[in-house]
Amino acid sequence: MKIQLVNKNIEDIKTDVLVEFLTSDELSEHEKFKTLSQAGFKAEQDSICFLHESGFLACGVESKKSDNIRSAAASMIKALKESNYESVKLGVISKRTVSALVEGIILGGYEFNDYKSKPKKIKLTEISLAINALNFEEIESLFNESIIIANATCYTRDIVNTAPQELNPETFALLAKKLANTNELECNILDEDELKEENMNAMLAVGRASIHKSKLIHLTYKPANPKKIISLVGKGLTYDSGGLSLKAAASMVTMKMDKAGACAVLGMIKAASELKLDVEIHAFIGAVENMIGGNAYKPDDVLVSRSGTTIEVRNTDAEGRLVLADVLSYAQDTVKADTMFDFATLTGACVVALGPFTTGVMGHSHKLKHDISKSASESGELTGSLPFNKHLKTFLKSEIADISNTSSKPYGGAITAGMFLDEFIHKDMKNKWLHFDIAGSAYTETPWDCNVYGGTGAGVRMICEYLKNI
Ligand code: BES
Ligand code: ZN
Ligand code: ZN
Repeated sequence: MKIQLVNKNIEDIKTDVLVEFLTSDELSEHEKFKTLSQAGFKAEQDSICFLHESGFLACGVESKKSDNIRSAAASMIKALKESNYESVKLGVISKRTVSALVEGIILGGYEFNDYKSKPKKIKLTEISLAINALNFEEIESLFNESIIIANATCYTRDIVNTAPQELNPETFALLAKKLANTNELECNILDEDELKEENMNAMLAVGRASIHKSKLIHLTYKPANPKKIISLVGKGLTYDSGGLSLKAAASMVTMKMDKAGACAVLGMIKAASELKLDVEIHAFIGAVENMIGGNAYKPDDVLVSRSGTTIEVRNTDAEGRLVLADVLSYAQDTVKADTMFDFATLTGACVVALGPFTTGVMGHSHKLKHDISKSASESGELTGSLPFNKHLKTFLKSEIADISNTSSKPYGGAITAGMFLDEFIHKDMKNKWLHFDIAGSAYTETPWDCNVYGGTGAGVRMICEYLKNI
């Protein structure tokens, strides 16, 4: 499926179908839309109506805001993929909506067919976005950027969706190496011996019962004169069975997605390098599989983390924070970053707190949280801030070690997990760090907005928007 921006009047482009986005007001005001109303079309958001005789597809929108266009474009592309039409054209309404259109089409039209022996054949091959404006070049560069970002989001989704028998810490490292090769990134991978030398005992403990060796992956994108240095850290649990604190059968299904933070970080560095941004990016990934076995780490174990802080394990299913504790420590000692973000499907509690669509944002810097919230809403991602407080911190007290890996109370679990990570953030980095809990937003079994079944690529669009504005 090819998507192109064409510098022409829409009337001068020949295709099978013309698409228009219509509000209910436009529908009732114009006589030419009478047939649509007669067919029962009310221009409700995300509804569609084909007029096959005239090769016309109407897509309902509440208003022409980017978020509505993105979501309607996703409905549009799904309908067109089911049809026999081969080419379609639509007019670009404004500069602001170019990205929304591209994202709606690419992300809404995304399918993961690697394991389908007979994937559906799609007739649609060409989508033309028409714009005849003086600032065509400006719009074209926005269009090209959006294609890179949407494709990077699909790249992230592909990895998230890959089955755990295929994607384990070792194959994850190979995949990162491949990305480094194609995108000319520096790549350093630490194997278990090197992790031992680094005293990364918390991370090593989590992966100990797996037949696959844990890996720490460090990719670097280094432009000539970077304005800033950003570290991105990702939780890469290629499978989270819960370990000896085994998950219930129903909760274990979908836990291949516990690597979504790591996959997002790969998508971000891929996009940043393709956009040729003037920002140095370091991606750190802890790739680990949390399994059971005779040598598994146990509730009651005390781990000495890389930073020296001792951790009482009270639940082996709270493994992400153990991996991140060591990776965050390593990242801070390896790179003096201006800003550090971590991404993790860290807690079910975050999904309870914010619902399944919203990424939880935690950290100390109000400015950073404000900037990120702006980037998120401009890119069409949902975020919500979850505030730290010193009282919740007391829930992490351990009688036997410096800190417990689980809270003593069943409340505020997303925040206590964030505050656990905070324990491993250096003093001078406190105001330069944010933690993103993507447990709800990274994966979906029911389509919403421009997301389809599976990985959503949460984080990628938001961080690309943030990095573009540095
Ligand atoms: N990977 C899970 C969190 C998760 C849950 C992600 C649901 C996506 C959807 C994490 O490792 C986990 O199991 N967390 C526990 C923590 C608890 C044991 C303190 C949880 O949320 O139940
Ligand atoms: Zn877990
Ligand atoms: Zn997990």
